[in-house]
Amino acid sequence: MITKILEITYSEYSSVNELPQKDANLLNAAVEALNGSYAPYSNFNVGAAVLLDNGVIVKGANQENIAYPSGLCAERTALFSAHANYPDNKVVSIALTSSQNGLLLATPPFPCGACRQVMAQTQTRNGSPLKIIIGGSDKILVFNSVESLLPFIFASEEVGKHE
Ligand code: THU
Repeated sequence: MITKILEITYSEYSSVNELPQKDANLLNAAVEALNGSYAPYSNFNVGAAVLLDNGVIVKGANQENIAYPSGLCAERTALFSAHANYPDNKVVSIALTSSQNGLLLATPPFPCGACRQVMAQTQTRNGSPLKIIIGGSDKILVFNSVESLLPFIFASEEVGKHE
């Protein structure tokens, strides 16, 4: 038996002004996307924005439902919308942020497991890493690929293959 250690590398910024311009623009779009959040049950608003390789930004926000599991997170709303409307374009990066009662939250909103899995599939479709920018009002974290948030990704090429 051997014990192995997994390391992840990510960047932490203290303000949006420190970010490279493209990342700052995307995070600002995620803040704008908060306007589309529908969260009457949790009162927790999440905004997401996705940058495509043609420069287009697609926004998404969490959409809740009285039948709770029928709702959808901001990240998946944005990613599915991007893939549905621009199926031939790669998704370069995704930014997300959260607010409550109109105030940006200090802590960066880490994506849930299901959203990480969908991000993994986006990366598989892309054939290149997906950058993830997670913004809180106190700090912004940047991860250069989905592996940093979801190690040991389930992405077997054999599953669902038919001869
Ligand atoms: N939510 C997101 O939009 N993204 C996540 O990654 C985690 C949670 C939403 C779902 C729900 O509308 C609210 O946050 C509270 O869980």
